[in-house]
Amino acid sequence: MRAALIEQLGQPPSLASRDKPAVLADHVVVDVLAAPIMPLDLLCATGTSYFGSPETPYIPGVQGIGTVGGRAVWFPTVAGMAAGDGSMAEKALARQEDLVFLPDDVPTEAMAALGLSAVAAHMALTWRGELKPGECVVVLGCGAVGQAAIQLARAAGAGRVVAAARSAQARDRATRAGADAVIALDADDLAGQFREAAPDADLLLDPLFGPPAAAAAQALRPGGRWVNLGGSAGETCPITSSTLRSRSLRLSGYTNNELSTHQRAEAISTVAHLAAQGALTVDHEVVKLADVTNAWRRQAEGATRGRIVLVPQ
Ligand SMILES: NC(=O)c1ccc[n+]([C@@H]2O[C@H](COP(=O)([O-])OP(=O)(O)OC[C@H]3O[C@@H](n4cnc5c(N)ncnc54)[C@H](OP(=O)(O)O)[C@@H]3O)[C@@H](O)[C@H]2O)c1
Repeated sequence: MRAALIEQLGQPPSLASRDKPAVLADHVVVDVLAAPIMPLDLLCATGTSYFGSPETPYIPGVQGIGTVGGRAVWFPTVAGMAAGDGSMAEKALARQEDLVFLPDDVPTEAMAALGLSAVAAHMALTWRGELKPGECVVVLGCGAVGQAAIQLARAAGAGRVVAAARSAQARDRATRAGADAVIALDADDLAGQFREAAPDADLLLDPLFGPPAAAAAQALRPGGRWVNLGGSAGETCPITSSTLRSRSLRLSGYTNNELSTHQRAEAISTVAHLAAQGALTVDHEVVKLADVTNAWRRQAEGATRGRIVLVPQ
């Protein structure tokens, strides 16, 4: 079968011919229809993730959409995080219990682009972030997580959603996703901009960390919640003790990896139903698996029109 293969850490994968996966107990072989290139895929393939250095060669791809017995499924893999191959191939091995069967009318590539990015947005907002109807939410960054978070916050009944992003393209995505106000991260007096656009915000959804999160935290109300799920703008954040303690802020971390199989399946089902209704989508580009090397480079450089979704056919 054709597959994307990482042969050397720090280098993009190339198209290779590999044996079809052998069936293991409690596993199924999925006929892959679509596999997104995720930040997690890129990070693991550098060998610098907190999961450690994966053994090479391996097929990347931590999730995908495919069919099993003719039915559409979403499936995760551990590729790059532990031994085993991933979704960027014509066929992939998945644990039977991890499969989530999808409604018939879910758009395949759009659902692949949403996948775990939308799960993270949904669970960080509702489960970790305890979002309540009528609340004001600030969403930082407008990649896949940010776009999904804006729409999911709305779907959960948020009263006001304020987004902030670096590039003009990302700010345009935030507007199209339905943000009430959109802030440029290079604005003068960024903290003042957040306070003005989202006074007494209840919840900060933060995939960026770094200076943008420190500025946005200034707009949180007393007892406000800040959920961090990524560090795209910095591994450290210049937050002051007085900001945290003067308003008794609650800062929490979130990772999809802490979800139980059941929680993750429920979140995928929620995302799939909204996607099927046309109520949830993120910008994406569909690219043939054969072009994986260039696609991987472009995704890593941010030179795309959104999440790249690889299709084997
Ligand atoms: N904790 C979890 O379970 C979990 C799950 C999914 C994702 N994540 C993390 O969440 C983050 C976002 O994921 P994603 O899927 O949305 O990624 P993505 O689709 O690749 O988008 C990344 C976004 O981050 C922005 N960005 C990158 N560097 C930035 C900087 N220095 N300052 C401001 N903005 C910056 C980019 O802005 P421009 O468009 O303006 O260039 C882009 O819109 C990643 O760090 C990812 O690892 C965590």
